[in-house]
Amino acid sequence: MSYEFLIVDPQVEQHIALIKLHRPKELNALNRQLMQELQQALQELDEDEKVRVIVLTGDEKAFAAGADIRQMADATALDLLKLNQFATWDQVKKTRKPMIAAVSGFALGGGCELMMHCDLIVASETARIGQPEIKLGVIPGAGGTQRLTRSLGKALAMELVLTGRSLTAEEALRIGLINKVVPVELYLQEAIHLAKQVAENSPIATQLAKESVLHAFNTTLDEGLHLERKNFYLCFAGEDQKEGMHAFIEKRKPVFKGK
Ligand code: CAA
Repeated sequence: MSYEFLIVDPQVEQHIALIKLHRPKELNALNRQLMQELQQALQELDEDEKVRVIVLTGDEKAFAAGADIRQMADATALDLLKLNQFATWDQVKKTRKPMIAAVSGFALGGGCELMMHCDLIVASETARIGQPEIKLGVIPGAGGTQRLTRSLGKALAMELVLTGRSLTAEEALRIGLINKVVPVELYLQEAIHLAKQVAENSPIATQLAKESVLHAFNTTLDEGLHLERKNFYLCFAGEDQKEGMHAFIEKRKPVFKGK
């Protein structure tokens, strides 16, 4: 499958796929076609048994500068309702494999929201992260008000959403929004390095772990604990758990097959 606004490498390293947003002149603004392509690519990679981790990136200047303002500027509420503007984002949310964002430059509006859909985030020192929608007379629409608040708490989320100010990479790291900051020439390499560490583990366990952690945002403690316990038991349905535990006992490195 070829794409106009994405570059997809299903095997950038063993078990690791790379999706690069590729609309450089528009700072990777997320127009509808790009989001449809992303929906398609994520679905295919999520179903591809060879892929264990997906790295999502943009380019040095921008991860993504938000939803496409030109495409939205003259829309009516009914246009957006009929188009179901954000439906393509549902695939980003439901991708079962761990996703790692490699962010450089602008991650604003929908770009910040896309970054926050990822499970781990590596940023370059140049990253600028925020939700500037308020300056356009609107509010975040792809989860920004909810995910920022759950990650950062009310005070900071409210400040970012009401003022539209963006965070530096260092600030985002300090407040726990992202995992790592590295020099700009290293951000993609570092994200792939992190992806390799995740990909060495059982893909069954990593998917169940991802599901369990994300559930914590969405439910009561009791329900979350219930899902975690079930997913723990489920790990014992496959060969990977036997391999992992026997490798430990035999003092060797496990080889996980995703079975
Ligand atoms: N949509 C459409 N086009 C965009 C864009 C966007 N979100 N962001 C940048 N572009 C375009 C610019 O219009 C410009 O195109 P032209 O060369 O044809 O004029 C090109 O990308 C380069 O941008 P700038 O010249 O503005 O570059 P800069 O370095 O001077 O500024 C910037 C960079 C600060 C990121 C600035 O482009 C900017 O403020 N962009 C908009 C950011 C924004 O408000 N994002 C939120 C969008 S709404 C949203 O995302 C809703 C949601 O919740 C999903």
